[in-house]
Amino acid sequence: MHSPSRRAFLGTSLASLATPLFAADPAPVPGPDDPPFQPTTLFLSWQRDPTTTMTVQWVGTLGETADTTVYYAPTAAAFLAGAWQGVRPTPRPYPRTDFKVFRAELTGLQPGTDYRFRIGKASPTYRFRTMPAKANDTIHFVSGGDCGVNSHAVANNVQAAKQDPMFAVIGGDLGYDNGRSVEVSLAFLRNYSKHMVARDGRLIPMVACIGNHEVDGGYDKPRAKAPFFYALFDGLYPETGYATLDFGDYLSLVLLDTGHTSPIGGDQASWLEKTLKARADHPNLFVVNHVPAYPSYRNPLGTLFRAGTGDGNRKHWVPLFERYRVPVVLEHHDHTFKRTKPLLSGLADDNGVLYLGDGSWGRLRNPKSPDKLNYLAAASRDYHLSLHRIQGKERFHLALDETGRVMDVCRSGQRKTGLVSVPG
Ligand SMILES: [Fe+2]
Repeated sequence: MHSPSRRAFLGTSLASLATPLFAADPAPVPGPDDPPFQPTTLFLSWQRDPTTTMTVQWVGTLGETADTTVYYAPTAAAFLAGAWQGVRPTPRPYPRTDFKVFRAELTGLQPGTDYRFRIGKASPTYRFRTMPAKANDTIHFVSGGDCGVNSHAVANNVQAAKQDPMFAVIGGDLGYDNGRSVEVSLAFLRNYSKHMVARDGRLIPMVACIGNHEVDGGYDKPRAKAPFFYALFDGLYPETGYATLDFGDYLSLVLLDTGHTSPIGGDQASWLEKTLKARADHPNLFVVNHVPAYPSYRNPLGTLFRAGTGDGNRKHWVPLFERYRVPVVLEHHDHTFKRTKPLLSGLADDNGVLYLGDGSWGRLRNPKSPDKLNYLAAASRDYHLSLHRIQGKERFHLALDETGRVMDVCRSGQRKTGLVSVPG
């Protein structure tokens, strides 16, 4: 007998509760008595395959607009009767406040297609684009982490949007709400919402993973200590702090929890092995985690068994990255620009794993020199984001500083076919 996993059950039941679908015919248009509605925290994200779904989300209050239904239609058909559909979000609590999270997951979308959407009749008309069904053209996205809400974070938002990325990966430490500050959590969303808009007006979806500054206490805490993160992202992370987002069959993001609300070893390591094994023939698999396995600021030696040092990653995850052909790991938390050499067991190897980081979207520290940490290929004290371009069998990774200057370019090759034999 088929018994669906709890996650699948939760995902299905929450989706069905939150997304009553209905046709809206004709297209909704504002009436003379409809006050304008433009939520300042509006952003896009994903819970499932980005080729056919989109999640529209904002934080607001009950009654601030008469109709919270998210109406949407393909841009090319938006003028046609019957093209618009609606999904009405079920408001859910935003912790420690009277605010609500409004979330509408749009499903059954056409891949690689431009859509229009609006909230009720009174909002502006916004745009999004689904990811293509196949990677026939260049796939490009940005990543970074450790943002905060200062002017550098805003500058990097602006630079990120100028790259016209298909989406943005934020690898933890989003606003630095520390699980306590609702104001900071909302300020981060407002900045993202305002600036992460592509040149054609398309909203840039966010894929986030958890960092220590999402959590009251940072490490080894229950989910309740990361109230704002999970209020926003529990669609992707319904039970654990780790998840996979598969883009059709051409791209997988494996998003990990570096010991903040899920232990690094045990269940997460077992899950990671199964996840990587199932995708061992996927050419474009990126691991995303907050605390780096190969730090650029913190000393990797003499800090054994302490949270936040990468020791747990090196013990439980790195052997799996090496065995299952992970090409690239996106790391954060140390507030520098860094690129490692391709590494196997901590040593340079042409068939090794590339680690890119280290989270300086809006925070900065002095990295150690590559002379001192010989696994580093490059490191500098610069606010930056990464731009990744997948072109056929090639992947390019650019580091851009907050003014848009290209600081670094590298290429990650396909690691050799078959499992890599790793000692131990
Ligand atoms: Fe951090």
